Amino acid sequence: FNSFGFQYDLLDWYYENKRDLPWRQDQDPYKVWVSEIMLQQTKVDTVIPYFQKFMEKFPTVYELAKADEQEVLKTWEGLGYYSRARNLQSAVKEVVETYDGKVPDNPKELGSLKGIGPYTKGAILSIAYDLPEPAVDGNVMRVFSRVFKIEDDIAQLKTRKKFEELVREVISKEDPSSFNQAIMDLGATICTPKSPACLFCPVGEYCQAFAEGVQEELPIKTKA
Ligand code: ADE
Repeated sequence: FNSFGFQYDLLDWYYENKRDLPWRQDQDPYKVWVSEIMLQQTKVDTVIPYFQKFMEKFPTVYELAKADEQEVLKTWEGLGYYSRARNLQSAVKEVVETYDGKVPDNPKELGSLKGIGPYTKGAILSIAYDLPEPAVDGNVMRVFSRVFKIEDDIAQLKTRKKFEELVREVISKEDPSSFNQAIMDLGATICTPKSPACLFCPVGEYCQAFAEGVQEELPIKTKA
């Protein structure tokens, strides 16, 4: 497997085709954080207006830390999974109190904040801080299960860890931020769950599942 070729073709595609999303205006770690929390159980198109309203009301960690919780929940209304908003505000308060308002740029401190699991941690470290960290969610597992024809059950925790190790090996060290976002866009627009558009895929030539015609059989997931 030619990691450099894969990275080059993926990034080339991403620079030309990246979706213009409001949380991609800059690399502000707070904005990346809020967007990743909102995107966890909610689709991009739904999140966009909520993200914009949230940033108008709470433009930095300081406004969110001092905001009234009911006001935060009102801004979240319609997105659902309200514990996401409560945990976010609680973690932001800790950032203000413990880290002088600076979102931590290391796995240990970041991962100990309320509501920040392995995926969100990796997303913030890579997208905001340009660190070569994996950010593995279901979409990322779908893409890589096909590229490497991995038949492990993605419902298993150990499988996610396997994908994290794999991403550590193949991620671009030059531009890990774009690499992870490119995989997200690829999973959303081309390497879709049903009828993936393999003929338009920028990395189709690297894809073992496509080579064998089994892309629709992957990933393998036991429980719903
Ligand atoms: N889904 C999850 N995180 C995303 C991001 N940063 N951009 C686009 N889609 C996403």
